[in-house]
Amino acid sequence: MRTPIVAGNWKMHKTIAEAVELTRDVRRGVMDVEGVQVVLCPPFTALAAVREAIGPAGIGLGAQNMHYEEQGAFTGEISPLMLAELCQYVILGHSERRQYFGETDEGVNKKARAALAHGLTPIICVGENLEQNRAGETAAFVGGQVRAAFEGISAEDAARIVVAYEPIWAIGTGVAAVPAEVNRIIGLSIRGALADMYGEAVAQSVRVQYGGSVKPDNVADFAVQSEIDGALVGGASLRADSFVAIVKASRPR
Ligand code: PGA
Repeated sequence: MRTPIVAGNWKMHKTIAEAVELTRDVRRGVMDVEGVQVVLCPPFTALAAVREAIGPAGIGLGAQNMHYEEQGAFTGEISPLMLAELCQYVILGHSERRQYFGETDEGVNKKARAALAHGLTPIICVGENLEQNRAGETAAFVGGQVRAAFEGISAEDAARIVVAYEPIWAIGTGVAAVPAEVNRIIGLSIRGALADMYGEAVAQSVRVQYGGSVKPDNVADFAVQSEIDGALVGGASLRADSFVAIVKASRPR
């Protein structure tokens, strides 16, 4: 049994004060929810304050990106060594990073290895764009992204990684993917690639989230799918009421 993981990717939103308020409201809302790992991913500037606001609650904390080096002359970057003091998770290879900041599969792989070496759990994002989807290239493309991201990572470490399948055309558009199709792609391309690389046991233990316009009113349709283990939530994670509703609907049944 894989524990579903619901992560809020706040992107470039929330001042420290706003982040603390949202965290308190989420904390209150998910207090009695069992069987779901909740993770909050605020901007770097709010990580310390959100950590404080989470306190002893069993809510995970994650960053949205990091550099793969421990330290050095990389102005504006944040290292795994620095994050390991603050949080447990790090989102890597989000499509916005790939699209606007030139991140490559190779870079994502370096970051994943560095995160694992520092005890951080990577949430590795993969997903096709609209053109690839329309051309029927989704399965091959996503499988390739998974292979590249996991290259050189041991089976033991691989089992700790969380993958987020986020079709780019579904992110922030209000048009979520079709749950049964997501289930098929995750089974075929993501668990399929992992089974080739590591065998079936690892492929079955990696948690795979769906992301892309997840809302309180559609999350249950994803949660019931056998291959989907929770959600990576952008827009709907910026308000406590919608995020808490998504967490509750993601409970295993
Ligand atoms: P969205 O974003 O929920 O706003 O579509 C998801 C994501 O980018 O992780």
